[in-house]
Amino acid sequence: MVRVLGISGSPRKGNSQFLLEQALEAARAVSPGNVECTPYSLRGKKFAPCVSCFRCGDLSGECVVKDDFQELRDLWVAADVVIYSVPVYHMGVPGQLKCFLDRLGNSLFGRYRHLFPPGVDSLPKMLKVVGAIAQGVHLCSGQEHAITDLINHALILQCIPVTGDMWQSYIGAAGWTSNDIARDALARQAAAGQTDAAIVVRAARDVGRRATEIALVLREGGRHLRDTLRGDPAYLPFLERLGCVDPGVAGGNSGGEPGTGQGTD
Ligand SMILES: Cc1cc2nc3c(=O)[nH]c(=O)nc-3n(C[C@H](O)[C@H](O)[C@H](O)COP(=O)(O)O)c2cc1C
Repeated sequence: MVRVLGISGSPRKGNSQFLLEQALEAARAVSPGNVECTPYSLRGKKFAPCVSCFRCGDLSGECVVKDDFQELRDLWVAADVVIYSVPVYHMGVPGQLKCFLDRLGNSLFGRYRHLFPPGVDSLPKMLKVVGAIAQGVHLCSGQEHAITDLINHALILQCIPVTGDMWQSYIGAAGWTSNDIARDALARQAAAGQTDAAIVVRAARDVGRRATEIALVLREGGRHLRDTLRGDPAYLPFLERLGCVDPGVAGGNSGGEPGTGQGTD
């Protein structure tokens, strides 16, 4: 089973959600019955910023701030594919999502620290396939910047960013609502056959399909090479996800001590 996590980064049920659903539908169609999609919306959730306490390094990766981070972190860690669908906010990703991404990255260093020699700050090769979708109200108003933020985060976490197909998707799916701030703008425009809306829908579907295809390729490759990869601890979380090593070998902690949530001076 390929696990696809779709994250809508909008605080409302709107255009990001609509494009995410397109991507997930295309992901399911890659191998019907063999792809499990989990849609997750940041709507109504709370993600406080990282407080820079660095205690996740001592708490096996647990974040001392307790909010919706832990729930989404667990879904993220379990996923083979992560598709982000975001509204552009001031030419970047919305703050809620940025808070999650910051805390995720740092806490994973702590979570997997035991795999590496003492003193070595490293991350395992998470090898999740990551696709990004971004839409804004205006044309050329930060879509590529938002997608690049998400791809850069994927690269730091040793994931595999993918694009959709030419020509509608160079680095992900980028669209605009033709100056319409309504939450159903893209759904309405696409249903009416509006060209730009149709293009971003096609691009979002491409991203979902391709990300899932590449996850299947990685899965087969990982299984084929498991005896070689087992020798490098950086691959253990990936192999654990594939069921190629005993559960728990890569470690990780989703419990941990609650802390104060206060930053350091
Ligand atoms: C705080 C804020 C900042 C925004 N910044 C941008 C922007 O830089 N570029 C843009 O095209 N749209 C911007 N928008 C508009 C949203 O990206 C746009 O309305 C989008 O369709 C909302 O997606 P949603 O329906 O998924 O919430 C901004 C909206 C808000 C609330």
